[in-house]
Amino acid sequence: MGGIASSIVIRTATPADTEALLGVEREAFGGSSEAELVVALMSSSVFIPELSMVAESEGLIVGHVLFTRAYAGGVPAALLAPLAVTPAYQRCGIGGELVCAGLGTALAGGFQLSLVLGHPEYYGRFGYEPAEPYGILPPYPVTPAEAWMVLEMDMGARERAGGTVQVADELMLPEMWRK
Ligand SMILES: CC(C)(COP(=O)(O)OP(=O)(O)OC[C@H]1O[C@@H](n2cnc3c(N)ncnc32)[C@H](O)[C@@H]1OP(=O)(O)O)[C@@H](O)C(=O)NCCC(=O)NCCS
Repeated sequence: MGGIASSIVIRTATPADTEALLGVEREAFGGSSEAELVVALMSSSVFIPELSMVAESEGLIVGHVLFTRAYAGGVPAALLAPLAVTPAYQRCGIGGELVCAGLGTALAGGFQLSLVLGHPEYYGRFGYEPAEPYGILPPYPVTPAEAWMVLEMDMGARERAGGTVQVADELMLPEMWRK
């Protein structure tokens, strides 16, 4: 574990990384839906190039995270989706490093919140917590409700952010909010 983790570089993706990061998405999710979503988001107005980040190990792309622009009650929010690590490289901390690096970049870019639909136990470790108690609602109902999560990066932003979140048109499909 120390060997892999110590050789990992986290950096913003460049256009030259696109094929490799799409390969990571396909391998991690065992299908092409997330890779297709990434392609769609990358050509959408919500795409922020700095917030597409890859993990590289000895020249190989082994992880990818994408945050896109969303608005929660007018508050700028970085929506995390998707996150993927090549199966052979999982459980070495790479996913965590990608999330933390992305959050740091989002904070520097003026985002006041981050949002994610994911496993509460996994994202809870980064400080995400259920969003619905703050009145921050997903575009479609989510089950379990705790899987829709928010991380506050600017004090008071959660309280300013009530209502249904506005996300990219590419994410406005009910089936994307069912997992
Ligand atoms: C989820 C994922 C990105 C985590 O990447 P990773 O590099 O293995 O994550 P880390 O090494 O930082 O963290 C591993 C920890 O996360 C936990 N974890 C991983 N996947 C989890 C899940 N689906 N639910 C809950 N916990 C999970 C593991 O138990 C592990 O904890 P432990 O080390 O205490 O046992 C990776 O497993 C993956 O690509 N999965 C397939 C795609 C996916 O489901 N993406 C997330 C939804 S967008």
